[in-house]
Amino acid sequence: MHEDIEKVLIDEEVIEKRLDIIADRILGEFRGSPFVVIVILKGALVFTADLLRRMPIPLEIECINVASYHGETKSSGRVDFLDAKLPLVKGRSVLLIDDILDTGRTLVAVEAKLREQGARIVKSCVLLSKDKERSAEVEADYVGFHIGNEFVVGYGLDYKGLYRNLPYVGILKEETVEASG
Ligand code: XMP
Repeated sequence: MHEDIEKVLIDEEVIEKRLDIIADRILGEFRGSPFVVIVILKGALVFTADLLRRMPIPLEIECINVASYHGETKSSGRVDFLDAKLPLVKGRSVLLIDDILDTGRTLVAVEAKLREQGARIVKSCVLLSKDKERSAEVEADYVGFHIGNEFVVGYGLDYKGLYRNLPYVGILKEETVEASG
């Protein structure tokens, strides 16, 4: 475990087992009908790479950039779409992948945008869902793990751009947050 981490919440082995289950479930539900995967950068990168390698089918993968945290540990309350152009989704089925469901604003905003662009079906998948009151009523169709209302890093999730590469989900030491504060 890295010295900045207070505790590991979900270790690599547990993540891997859970990914096997989610990948099977997604493949089972789409039942061979084509879908495009849309990854919300950057947090969902690591999760998506591991999840999609468990799906041995020809998949199209697109990315979108949104920002809602701006490097802090609390949501700014605003979702900004950072790309000049969004993936073409008109008439298509979409599997939308994000790292974590927190206030729910990101998922609500991105799903609405994809529907507005003509997506036929939008299913959402998150690695983590925080058990807390959301700003809007939303839950992902596929959830890796439910966690408490705490700030986590690792396995794609960052604090000020760091720690995404850690192979587990963990909680930062208070002094690490204070020191960089
Ligand atoms: P909302 O509030 O829109 O948030 O559901 C989704 C986005 O906020 C970021 N987020 C976190 N990032 N540790 C992080 O590193 C966290 O505990 C955390 N909670 C929310 C994340 O980018 C997510 O996509």
